[in-house]
Amino acid sequence: MPVDIAHRFRPFGSSIFAEMTALAVRHQAVNLSQGFPDFDGPQSAKEAAARAMFEGHNQYARMIGVPPLNKAIAGSWASCGRGEIDPDANVTVTNGCSEAIPAAILGLLNPGDEIVVFEPFFDFYVTAIAMAGAVPKFVTLRPPADGLGAWWFDPAELRAAIGPRTRAIIVNTPHNPTGKVYTRGELEFIAGECIRHGLVAITDEVYEHLTFEPELPHISLATLPGMWERTMTLSSLGKTFSLTGWKIGWAVAAEPLSRVVRAAHQYLTFCAATPLQHGAAAVLAAPGDYAAGLRRLFIENRDALSAALTRAGLRVFPSHSTYFVMADHTPLRYADDRAFCYHLTERVGVAAIPPSVFYGTPGLGRDLVRFAFCKKRETIAEAIRRLDSLGPA
Ligand SMILES: Cc1ncc(COP(=O)(O)O)c(C=O)c1O
Repeated sequence: MPVDIAHRFRPFGSSIFAEMTALAVRHQAVNLSQGFPDFDGPQSAKEAAARAMFEGHNQYARMIGVPPLNKAIAGSWASCGRGEIDPDANVTVTNGCSEAIPAAILGLLNPGDEIVVFEPFFDFYVTAIAMAGAVPKFVTLRPPADGLGAWWFDPAELRAAIGPRTRAIIVNTPHNPTGKVYTRGELEFIAGECIRHGLVAITDEVYEHLTFEPELPHISLATLPGMWERTMTLSSLGKTFSLTGWKIGWAVAAEPLSRVVRAAHQYLTFCAATPLQHGAAAVLAAPGDYAAGLRRLFIENRDALSAALTRAGLRVFPSHSTYFVMADHTPLRYADDRAFCYHLTERVGVAAIPPSVFYGTPGLGRDLVRFAFCKKRETIAEAIRRLDSLGPA
């Protein structure tokens, strides 16, 4: 029996991550498309999760998170100089940031409400906005004109995107896919607009510990004056501790906004996996220098891969954070980003993501390609070796 997918999902098709990873497997390509590490997270986290399972922590968890995890998240928030928060009133544990995003958006927005989204975006934002029946208004992040600086936005474009129906703005810093870290000046401008127009800010900070330049530190929008009571800060364990498959995430917010997130979370999944929450609590409470080691590896990978892509003829933009780098493939004269990524995967043996799916404005992103460098050194070395055979179309 033919069955139609509901209208709200029709524009999105199947996820580009699943598509490119399947293509990579089919062609035995080095998979630099989907952003997951090809190595494991800390032993301490795995042992704590296994112990929790054997100690009988296997039933539904508390809806807002198991108490030690809420406490560890609050501790981690405070240890980054963001102030003391209440683990129960201000922290909600979710199934990855992937659930925190729809929980925040579905809990907050009514059909017809507008929300400002910077493009390129993490695609979950627009699908969650579609589920809510709300309307995204896009503001474009532009690549550095000289190829050397940072991605930027035009403040006038942001002002113009805000109208009488705007309820919220979503900011992702550090930013996937560009590796941009929003500066204090940019965040102050965004905060000013939120306060002037009474908007809620949803900030996705899953790469908060993966910044590479001392002069570009991560700043949480919620810490700016007047922003705590109007910001939902979303993050997760996966990127910082190479545990993307655990899907442990959270939302930090003032009590009224925590109620908004929980209104949806309790009916989306109710709770995240109990033993994994205990594992997450253990590693967050005693993170050691895991993130520092990860940053060192990723900086080396970024530099080696960026140099190889430049040698291959691409125009590589600097990545200041996350584990992604964007490049302009047009010097090689392929038809568009999909044609380039398919050629690269099928013929060169390196998989990457065509970023046009991360834009709401038609036509944007066709010149670009995104590579993930959250891999072992030897994986990146093999990708670099294969890139030698990349030539013009
Ligand atoms: C910007 C951004 N937000 C959210 C997520 C999802 O996070 P999680 O794996 O915790 O669900 C990702 C993962 O790729 C991401 O890049």
